[in-house]
Amino acid sequence: MSTPETVPVDPAFAARARLDADGAARLRERAARDPDGVWRELAGRLEWMRAPTEIRDVSFDRDDFRIRWYADGELNASVSCLDRHLDARGDRTALIVEPDDPAGEAQRISYRELHARVCRLGNALRNLGVRRGDRVTIYLPMTADAVVAMLACARIGAVHSVVFGGFAPQSIADRIADCRSKLVITADEGCRGGRRVPLKANVDAALKLAGTNSVETVLVVRHTGAGIDMQMPRDRWMHAVVDGQPDVCEPERMNAEDPLFILYTSGSTGKPKGVLHTTGGYLAWAAWTHEQVFDLREDDVYWCTADVGWITGHSYVVYGPLANGATQVVFEGVPNYPDVSRFWNVVDRHRVTIFYTAPTAIRALMREGEAPVKRASRASLRVLGSVGEPINPEAWRWYYEVVGDSRCPIVDTWWQTETGGILISPLPGAGPLKPGSATKPLPGIRAALVDAEGRAVEGEGEGNLVLLDSWPGQMRTVYGDHARFIETYFSTYPGMYFTGDGARRDADGDYWITGRVDDVLNISGHRIGTAEVESALVAHRDVAEAAVVGYPHDIKGQGLHAYVTLKAGVEPTDALRAELVQCVRSAIGAIATPDRIQWAPGLPKTRSGKIMRRILRKIAEGAADQLGDTSTLAEPAVVETLVADARAWS
Ligand code: WT7
Repeated sequence: MSTPETVPVDPAFAARARLDADGAARLRERAARDPDGVWRELAGRLEWMRAPTEIRDVSFDRDDFRIRWYADGELNASVSCLDRHLDARGDRTALIVEPDDPAGEAQRISYRELHARVCRLGNALRNLGVRRGDRVTIYLPMTADAVVAMLACARIGAVHSVVFGGFAPQSIADRIADCRSKLVITADEGCRGGRRVPLKANVDAALKLAGTNSVETVLVVRHTGAGIDMQMPRDRWMHAVVDGQPDVCEPERMNAEDPLFILYTSGSTGKPKGVLHTTGGYLAWAAWTHEQVFDLREDDVYWCTADVGWITGHSYVVYGPLANGATQVVFEGVPNYPDVSRFWNVVDRHRVTIFYTAPTAIRALMREGEAPVKRASRASLRVLGSVGEPINPEAWRWYYEVVGDSRCPIVDTWWQTETGGILISPLPGAGPLKPGSATKPLPGIRAALVDAEGRAVEGEGEGNLVLLDSWPGQMRTVYGDHARFIETYFSTYPGMYFTGDGARRDADGDYWITGRVDDVLNISGHRIGTAEVESALVAHRDVAEAAVVGYPHDIKGQGLHAYVTLKAGVEPTDALRAELVQCVRSAIGAIATPDRIQWAPGLPKTRSGKIMRRILRKIAEGAADQLGDTSTLAEPAVVETLVADARAWS
């Protein structure tokens, strides 16, 4: 492997950074020598009602399994995010809410105001009968209401489950039913790119599909003012229930290991699983990583473009930044509305210093050329971040040179819904940076590569990415299915957490994530299980069988290629293709829209009937000359037909 090109850290940046190369090295050394000391210090950054004395209690051994951090500590996450800032910085702006409509005025919300709003809603939720441990589903646009709703749940010890506003009713229904939510918080409509999203109508449809009567109340935020159906007594207006509530609300005393939230994410099999995060360790990890990875300072204006419907929005819009008392932009809109300068205009308008987005957005904007970027000054920027999928070196360079004017370090942050926070990333003052590499595990994180048999890959090499030990932000279980948790993550390689990603490690010990090695796709940074798309397709009366794979896509990272076998006698038509696309959109949501549907007279299978996805992937990639071993195929002719037909795509 040739030595990858590196970008040295600017000495002036390093001189002011929280961690320079020496500082990072010292912390790594301490974390190796005295991990509990480092973890204890990490907890010290939170506001505890009772400080933890037990630091960690972890075993990845299936028969003696436990992950417990700070287990005798007591705290309330909303107190660490709000109350403790009130004395010294209550008037500081917590949120700058930039609406979808560029002509609309940005709303500034101080920590004091945010605290009051959270308290009023906390009281209202208690009045509506929501108790500690109850689940609340949140289906809201990217506005202050979403942040308030999440923290109000935390305040009263309710467990929030945020569902991304782009998900279709069936997906909302599955998520409500799985955790048996007592209450749903939504809005009349959302606005994205000038278009309205019928959030309340989607919730109505979801509740009809959910097959559960757990939901007693639907709280509706009046956002666009659109006329919607209110079904009494179930549906209540948010403004009506919070009106007149006191702006103080006693925070529930939570154990560090009490659940903070559930967030559903796709796996390689079955329905999305409810990733459960607990209070103390998660919050400490989100806060510490947010401060160190972005080199957060007192005068920063931070902006993460992720929606709160994803883990990035949980850890790096809500919990991390607010625990750190940061000032941040919350953006309702999209990068290309009203035009492709929007991000950079918002950066200038609010003098954003730290900007965190996804490679798919960078690639889409890159395609539009430099002019829309250069029209804005961007002089305030000092740190850039990337998250969600591998960033190709070309996009990295464009981000660095064009967006950051070659002044701002880029932190390429690798992590997952399951990890709660960033695990592998450069520290911007400790560098050097390498375009395309997430570089090194953060101090205290024990990453490793293993081969298919679980043997360690030492030094330079390639393998499957595992974590040998726990960290405070690790998920604790799959909600309602602890066996699935252990099965999914700790049984491929006993004694290790398996990430599902492949990676390469270079001679400097830097990691290059190569992508998922399981049947999970990463489409525009959104995680989609092939099994979910397949089950949406086979639900159609004309479909006999379907197999879905990913293929490289210039903008989206991966595109979605579906092979569909129709029932005997059904004509493959364009109308049917459109119907199938619609099936997927209405079962999951627009993010799972197939880019290609290929009619397949048959699917390549082993003699035992297992679909050979490896072959389907190669065909979709246009690499039919590299099919590898096909000797186990039951019917080789099937492959020839698929290859011939697939030429049309490339
Ligand atoms: C998967 C996790 C991390 C929050 C958003 C996505 C991929 C994530 C990177 C990165 C290469 C990355 C991995 C991972 N991924 N960040 N910097 N470089 N790949 O969270 O939906 O749970 O997806 O996203 O494949 O396993 P998620």
